[in-house]
Order: sequence, then structure tokens, then C-alpha cells
Amino acid sequence: MAIITLSRFLIEEERNKQIICADLRFLVEIVSRACKAISIAIGKGSLAGVLGGAGTDNVQGEAQKKLDVISNEILLEANEWGGHLAAMASEEMEDPHLIPHRYPKGEYLLVFDPLDGSSNIDVNISVGTIFSVLRCPEGVPAVDDKAFLQPGTQQVCAGFAVYGPTTLLVLTLGDGVHCFTLDREFGHFVLTQENIRIPEDTKEFAINMSNARFWEAPVKRYIDELLAGQQGPRGKDFNMRWVASMVADVFRILTRGGIFLYPLDGKMQDKGGKLRLMYEANPMAMIVEQAGGVASTGRQRILDIGPTSLHQRVPVILGSKNEVERVVAYHGQ
Ligand code: AHG
Ligand code: MN
Ligand code: MN
Repeated sequence: MAIITLSRFLIEEERNKQIICADLRFLVEIVSRACKAISIAIGKGSLAGVLGGAGTDNVQGEAQKKLDVISNEILLEANEWGGHLAAMASEEMEDPHLIPHRYPKGEYLLVFDPLDGSSNIDVNISVGTIFSVLRCPEGVPAVDDKAFLQPGTQQVCAGFAVYGPTTLLVLTLGDGVHCFTLDREFGHFVLTQENIRIPEDTKEFAINMSNARFWEAPVKRYIDELLAGQQGPRGKDFNMRWVASMVADVFRILTRGGIFLYPLDGKMQDKGGKLRLMYEANPMAMIVEQAGGVASTGRQRILDIGPTSLHQRVPVILGSKNEVERVVAYHGQ
């Protein structure tokens, strides 16, 4: 069977299904090219002197890794000149990055987490890039934070790359979830999984157990029941995995099911959660829903949240439908 490259896939989505327009196709191509460049930088590691801290903090007060800064720069530079964007926003920048006046402006907004799981970069564990595409509201004279503050249901595209044993690109254009693998010799992404579906049931969960003493009662109850295994109320044994790179944990769930939780906990109550809505929770929620899973804060569907700030944090519970719905039900009791 002929291989389907990302370029061919996108052309066919545009031509046959009219799902996307040429500008959005170009945008995804450019983002995928940036992910390729990030993958190359990561792959060189110590040889290129890119590991370790940058010596700076980002807007959220987190110490930046060199590769956080490099990945952010790669995405900004790749997406500035094409005429497809009105602005970009990133985990690593307090304010939106406007398109320089020398370039034409387009109708889309791009939001990204340039390097997800960056605490794992120095120990050679998978990291990734997460992105979300919104339409810039019409009649906005100058693009600022407010243009971006749209609920996740408004995303026209979401995706993430995983820089692991292979480099993967997971993509949704609102019509299913598809996975592409980077062919390093040819330099292009090739379609390797079409219409990924998350199994509705699972025996695997992902949570940072070290936070157990800070969890709210519904999450505590749910995890206690899983840990009780066959002898407990669930009547079966569960397995646990926690990569601490959301991209890798979510990709595992897309591949074989599971539930991922980064719930609200006592020590981050004032922040609203750990993960960021605009460039972590929303794109992952769109992907998970498009694959037949569920994504919730425990109290609300993630995609329905009306954002109040660019770097807003939210609790995240996503994955296999029946498990996430159970946790949501516990929150309602
Ligand atoms: P980032 O590296 O972009 O700041 O994101 C890290 C996130 C996410 O990838 C992961 O699920 C979580 O933080 C890990 O948290 P712990 O360090 O508490 O395990
Ligand atoms: Mn992240
Ligand atoms: Mn990050």
C-alpha cells in the first residue's frame, strides 16, 4: 500500500472532505516542520549542549530548561512569516506574540506548550510539544489575550508531538484522531494510525501518587478503590503508570486505554490546578473526545470552560469513558 505522508493526508482532507482550507493545511505543515526541528535538537542532547537549565524563569515562576527556550524559538520563527496567523501564545511567554508588521496576518491563533514534560529532558525520557488552533475573532483591531480566551469547543485543530523512541505527531482536525510517525531518513511524517479509538474500559491509571495526601475526597475514594484491586469494590486489579510527560501518558491512553488524572489538590488550590487550560488541557481534551474518550475537571467538561486568562490552570481527568465518568459521578455525590 502506498505510504500516506502528512502532506498528502492534509491535501486529501482539503480536497475530498473539505474539512480544512489551504491556510490551515499550511499551518499544520509548518507546525510539523517545527516539531521536526525540535526533535533534531532533542536528539542531539549533550552533543549540542542543549540539556540543562536556561537560568531563567517563565511567567509561571518555573525554571526554564534550555530546550524550553529553544523549542519556543523554533515554533515562533517557523510560524511568523507564512501569513496564516494573527498571533501566537505559549507557556513560555507572558503575553501573546504578535506577527511582525513586515509579514501578512492570517485568521488563526496558535497556542502551544513548546516542550511538555521538560523535567524529563535531562533524564532521557520522552517529552513533546502540544498545540491548539483557534480562529481569531473578527473585528479585533489589535490581538491581545482576550482574542485567545475562547472555550476549547472552538478549537479547529489540536495536536501533539512525542519525542520518544520514535517521533510521533498526533493530530485532530475535528474528524477523528490520526497518528503520524517521523521517517528520519526521508524527513517526513507518515500516517501510521488512522481513527484512533480509546477503549471505554481500562485497568490502567496514571496519577502522581506523591500528592495523595492533598487530594479531594472523590479522587481519594476513586484511587483507593483501584488500589484495593480484586478484593475491593471494583473486583479487579489495576496497574499504574506515570511518565510525568503528559504527551507520553496521553499517547499511551490513545494506544491501549487508561485514565489520566492531575486533579485539584490542597497545595495548588489557589492556582486552580497544575495543568494549563489553553495549551495542555484543551488540546488534549479535544483529541481525547475525538477518540471516543472523556475529558473533565471532575465537575465540568474541559472543552466547555470559558477561559479567564491565558495561563489559567485547571484540574484534568481524561481517558477511557467509563472510568472518567465514574470519577465525575463521585464528584457529584
Ligand atoms: P511542562 O513540562 O510543560 O511544565 O509540563 C509538565 C506537566 C505534564 O507534562 C505532566 O503530566 C506533569 O506536569 C508532571 O507533573 P509532576 O512533576 O507532578 O509529576
Ligand atoms: Mn506541559
Ligand atoms: Mn512546557
